[in-house]
Amino acid sequence: MKSLLMLVLVTSVTVTAQNQRFPDCTSGNLAGNAVCNTSLPPSERAAALVAAMTAEEKLQNLVSKANGASRLGLPAYNWWSEALHGVAYAPGTQFRNVPGPFNSSTSFPMPVLMAAAFDDELIEKVGNVIGIEGRAFGNEGWSGIDYWTPNVNPYKDPRWGRGSETPGEDVLRIKRYAKFMIRGLEGPEEQRRIVATCKHFAANDFEDWNGANRHNFNAKITLQDLAEYYMMPFQQCARDSKVGSIMCAYNAVNGVPSCANKYLMDTILRGHWNWTEHNNYITSDCEAVLDVSANHHYARTNAEGTALCFDAGMDISCEYSGSSDIPGAWSQGLLKQATVDRALRRLYEGLVRAGYFDGAKSTHALLGWGDVNNHEAQQVALQAAVEGIVLLKNDGTLPLDLKQSSKVAMVGFWADAPEKLSGGYSGAPYFLHTPVYAARQMGLDVKVATGPILQEATGGSSPWLASALAAARDSDYILYFGGLDTSSAGETKDRQALDWPTAQLDLLNSLGSLGKPLVLVHMGDMMDDTPVLDMEGVSSILWANWPGQDGGTAVMQLISGQKSPSGRLPVTQYPANYTTIIPMTDMALRPSSKSPGRTYRWYPTPIKPFGFGLHYTTFTATILPSFATHFTTGNLVADCKNTYLDTCEFPALPVQVTNAGNRTSDYVVLAYLSGKYGPEPYPLKTLSSYSRLRNVTPGETVTISLEWTLGDVARHDENGNTVLYPGVYTVIIDEPSLTTMTFTIEGDAIMLDKWPAPPV
Ligand SMILES: *[C@@H]1O[C@H](CO)[C@@H](O)[C@H](O)[C@H]1NC(C)=O
Ligand SMILES: *[C@@H]1O[C@H](CO)[C@@H](O)[C@H](O)[C@H]1NC(C)=O
Ligand SMILES: *[C@@H]1O[C@H](CO)[C@@H](O)[C@H](O)[C@H]1NC(C)=O
Ligand SMILES: *[C@@H]1O[C@H](CO)[C@@H](O)[C@H](O)[C@H]1NC(C)=O
Ligand SMILES: *[C@@H]1O[C@H](CO)[C@@H](O)[C@H](O)[C@H]1NC(C)=O
Repeated sequence: MKSLLMLVLVTSVTVTAQNQRFPDCTSGNLAGNAVCNTSLPPSERAAALVAAMTAEEKLQNLVSKANGASRLGLPAYNWWSEALHGVAYAPGTQFRNVPGPFNSSTSFPMPVLMAAAFDDELIEKVGNVIGIEGRAFGNEGWSGIDYWTPNVNPYKDPRWGRGSETPGEDVLRIKRYAKFMIRGLEGPEEQRRIVATCKHFAANDFEDWNGANRHNFNAKITLQDLAEYYMMPFQQCARDSKVGSIMCAYNAVNGVPSCANKYLMDTILRGHWNWTEHNNYITSDCEAVLDVSANHHYARTNAEGTALCFDAGMDISCEYSGSSDIPGAWSQGLLKQATVDRALRRLYEGLVRAGYFDGAKSTHALLGWGDVNNHEAQQVALQAAVEGIVLLKNDGTLPLDLKQSSKVAMVGFWADAPEKLSGGYSGAPYFLHTPVYAARQMGLDVKVATGPILQEATGGSSPWLASALAAARDSDYILYFGGLDTSSAGETKDRQALDWPTAQLDLLNSLGSLGKPLVLVHMGDMMDDTPVLDMEGVSSILWANWPGQDGGTAVMQLISGQKSPSGRLPVTQYPANYTTIIPMTDMALRPSSKSPGRTYRWYPTPIKPFGFGLHYTTFTATILPSFATHFTTGNLVADCKNTYLDTCEFPALPVQVTNAGNRTSDYVVLAYLSGKYGPEPYPLKTLSSYSRLRNVTPGETVTISLEWTLGDVARHDENGNTVLYPGVYTVIIDEPSLTTMTFTIEGDAIMLDKWPAPPV
């Protein structure tokens, strides 16, 4: 979706009145309809509404900006609301732009930074806040109750402009993020608080590169990579989390546009993953239906493409202005009544299950403005930023020993630019606390100087140098805030390069030559940090991405040592030449003569690896000898009573962690499995479990049982099947490794999940 365009449209209108209303089941035309009868099962209620609609009314409700049916008392409804890291602007979501209720929402860090916390409990808390605020906006008419979030496409190429919308590059990390985020968003009650949407199904992970773009791209993916990587987040969403909706993507997968792809939507999503029982719906990405004919040339006309999508299992077309051809598909007899009814029943059952027709009787009827921006929500936003920020370099300078009136130079375009804290898909944040704001709150003596953003003028003529040096000369400490600005990434904008902007490096070099403690806070997307890691004048580096409304406070709490850094990279930091080695459009994960491979599992020589993150203290770890060293595949599976064998538990791994240093700190235990078993000639080090330990004090030893499943231990064969293989397995704790142990699994290989073969 084109968030920028949307932002302009939405914010240019003075919004003073709410834009969405709930149906009235207590009086008026809808009152007698069975959709209002809460004693009936949701499927019957939805079917009754659909049965009451005329053909014309039905056709008007298959698009995101749905007209409703005034004759029946069904109000217009915009299905498209957004809440990537807090309730955000969207055609279906508005913020009052004058003081008053619903002028703001809590704004969390971008998902990639939240993922860096490796904290499932945190993600559920964040989801809860967003779900509650989202429903409050919906209840009061400022949004719908369908939110098209989260974005769970694996972030496999560092150039992707929307990578920071995702939980990173690793399947386990993404699956757990999806699980806990959806649980939070949709809520623990039987009745959904809001309907969450996993997007973009499937394999949508670049925007526009070298002549190809997401609207015409055909992603060629092997069955093994598809089953093991691109589809796994959606298995979590659909099969295991039973999410309320899924968005099909712009791109084609192996020749078939995603929104017309029966194999993806019908065979796998609703068939193999049994998603139908929950009556959920699939929306197209916005204008993806038009792409089927106009850009993929998969259908001769838009009408034909539209019918193909609905037939294949898409239920609603998201569009800006009538870009699908529903009337044409209908009048030409391509779109059948049964297909239309099926789509509408799925859509309305979703709303029934969220209490849309229940008025004051809805479980969530009481959520309102009083539940938005509350104290706890603000604390969670701060906690998410503190936990996610990653320490990449430290010569001992951090934490700084700051006193009340310590003199601190805060340099760089990001030091005091509130609008640059939030990242893409944002709403109107409750507040935006920059690092400069936070430093002043701490009582520091702050000197501010801005700096270059992208590849701007450099050298002697640098317009920033004089003021930066003046601020720095006058200070005890220098904090530099730089990296890649939001304007260099986002929807439709992939990056061409991973280099640090030269103008910023020049400025850093000049500041570094002063010989004062110099802390670099690296904002935005990952780059090749080699020059700043090597630069002697740079004492320490924190990666803070887009840290959200309280990002400045989080950064200053870490710099001052009030809090200790504990985030881990959820993505690989690649060398800059990676962009010249591998095309963005190459979907293969495994190395070949043409590619060094993708992600930490295959790419061998990162600048900083996935999972990396320093601390202010030292941790040691041991795997306790109580963990068995021999298993058999037969016994492991025999104990499994679950429908899906891959979801059964593998015996938990007991790990003892000691804080051997001098500072209290959280610690993320990462457990990888490695070994040459199964179909792979590589050891394939794979993250298989993780957990966050909180506030481990100096000298303290904590024991934790890491949970994992048979699926976390299994691999995928060339046909995409999930297989538990016999072999010698090495457990590796942490990145870099703190300790290892090996165990053996004997017996025959056992297939845990047979992947459906694609149509021939
Ligand atoms: C609602 O449905 C129940 C169960 O079918 C039925 O007994 C009841 O009469 C219905 N109520 C109304 C108001 O139609
Ligand atoms: C929202 O409105 C309140 C008053 O109700 C005001 O104090 C606050 O500053 C406004 N916030 C934003 C982000 O506009
Ligand atoms: C799939 O869903 C149906 C309908 O709810 C249920 O009866 C069936 O057991 C499910 N199948 C699996 C494999 O879980
Ligand atoms: C890419 O850069 C890395 C690190 O700078 C270097 O080790 C590697 O040899 C380079 N690879 C190619 C193919 O140039
Ligand atoms: C802990 O602090 C003491 C005293 O300041 C110091 O000697 C020691 O090296 C520190 N230990 C670690 C592991 O940092």
